[in-house]
Amino acid sequence: MRILALSGSLRASSTNSTLVRAIAALAPEGVEVIIYDGLGGLPHFTPDRDGDDPPASVGHLRGLLRWVDGVLICTPEYAFGVPGALKNALDWTVSSGEFDGKPVAAISASPLYTGGEKAHASLLLTLTALGAHVPDEGTLIIPGVKAKLASNGDVTDPATVRALTSVLDGLARALDGHHEWNWITEHPAG
Ligand code: FNR
Repeated sequence: MRILALSGSLRASSTNSTLVRAIAALAPEGVEVIIYDGLGGLPHFTPDRDGDDPPASVGHLRGLLRWVDGVLICTPEYAFGVPGALKNALDWTVSSGEFDGKPVAAISASPLYTGGEKAHASLLLTLTALGAHVPDEGTLIIPGVKAKLASNGDVTDPATVRALTSVLDGLARALDGHHEWNWITEHPAG
């Protein structure tokens, strides 16, 4: 099973991108995590360029989303919402529907001890609009993230490692059901 992992931050030393890499290393056997790094190269969304012949980078993102079984998003909060680059990517999938019914895990990490909640709520609302399936165990807010990461990118806080593992397990369980359901609908004779 394949998961596409997206960081909502374009910052070179982003804590969210660091977390995405740490999560990829925690993936259970049988789950491959592919890290998407094209967020900053997507054009601004406009319905004028949406449709069956979108810009190449958008076509690439849509293809990846169709190819994977699930998605994991890890994002910072900017001005009480999700960063524009992430929202832009999600907007490109509204009409094409790649998220419809797709299992998605949503993580928000903030250096503030009270941060991340509003971006998280906003991301969940957008995922609802896209028809994504966010399992209950597939959501996590990580406040004070800088104190939980070592300079080499290791997650040093045991509770955070457990929480990330639990998110991955929750997503993997949802993928299992989704995989089975897809197989049954594609092969109705069993
Ligand atoms: C922030 N930051 C921030 N944090 C938060 O918890 N709530 C917020 O509303 C905001 N707003 C905000 C706006 C802008 C323009 C910047 C640059 C930053 C802080 C933000 O969470 C912090 O920079 C993170 O470290 C960004 O994540 P990455 O890049 O480390 O993944």
